[in-house]
Amino acid sequence: MTGATGVPPSAPVLPSASGETGARPVRGTAFGHGKVILIGEHAVVYDQPALAAGLSLGVTAGATDGTGRLTIPAWGLSVRAGDGSSVGRAFGALLARLQVDDVDVSVEAALPSRSGLGSSAALAIAVARAIAQARGRDDEAARAAAAEAETVFHGTASGIDQAAAASGAIGRFRRSEGWREVPVLQAMPLCVGLTGRPRDTRAQVEAVRRLRERTPVVTTVIEALGALVAPAERALAVGDIDDLGRLLDVAHGLLAALRVSSPELDAMVHAARAAGAVGAKLTGAGGGGAVIALAPGHERDVLARWKSAGFEGFSTGIGGKLEWPL
Ligand code: PMV
Repeated sequence: MTGATGVPPSAPVLPSASGETGARPVRGTAFGHGKVILIGEHAVVYDQPALAAGLSLGVTAGATDGTGRLTIPAWGLSVRAGDGSSVGRAFGALLARLQVDDVDVSVEAALPSRSGLGSSAALAIAVARAIAQARGRDDEAARAAAAEAETVFHGTASGIDQAAAASGAIGRFRRSEGWREVPVLQAMPLCVGLTGRPRDTRAQVEAVRRLRERTPVVTTVIEALGALVAPAERALAVGDIDDLGRLLDVAHGLLAALRVSSPELDAMVHAARAAGAVGAKLTGAGGGGAVIALAPGHERDVLARWKSAGFEGFSTGIGGKLEWPL
């Protein structure tokens, strides 16, 4: 896990943004966790509670003295603060909020981008914390700067991605209440499958808003998603993976009712269940992006089934360190 500043104990030494390793000393380093939403995406926008889990996979940012350049080799990105690209605009907004213009940031990303695993929030929190550390700003200032960047990426985001990126644990988030970690009896393995189709959070959130406006009864579906959170919290607290799995299945059905599933997402969810998962659902904004599956003892079967259908996936642990190998 991470320390108070979000720096993992084994943070790598990063090359400077210009690529000249060691040319300029790294003045701040920080980590942002990827995340999966277990229950409540979309409903959380309407102040329903939601549950998210931080992943041990994430991004590491290193800040050096510089002139406002951000480099992310794993995503093939090199931008200037405020240039026309969305990452450049987000970086510019983040720097402006911190009132800093004399840093370069280099990022090592172990997460795929735009896949529904919170890569943009992980990036924003890692970059903001690295710069805050380099220039002596506190964590509150770093979080506010990360929120500015998220607004550029996603419009009015609920804040759940950012809270999970900063925490790394399993937590309950509600817009009006913020984030709190929830008790978890045991860490559990989770399969994550990637459709390979990038998802567009802003467009999906907008589509749900329009659906709700035209068809007011959709509010009931949104409330039903929120109502899954309390039983899911109970299942996590007592380690009832079967019950949690059933709740994931219900959540997927409700998200499909909001029209944010897709043929690929549905196919991956059904393939996971056929391979022994006790529950599976899309995670994140939907339309593309990722699915999650709880499949105790059947992780390899789920990954193999996805692979043979042409989808990549991996297994990871949520809720702490796993006590058994995957
Ligand atoms: O960006 P994603 O795919 O993790 O989706 C974010 C979750 C939503 O509820 C769809 C949007 C939000 O701001 O909470």
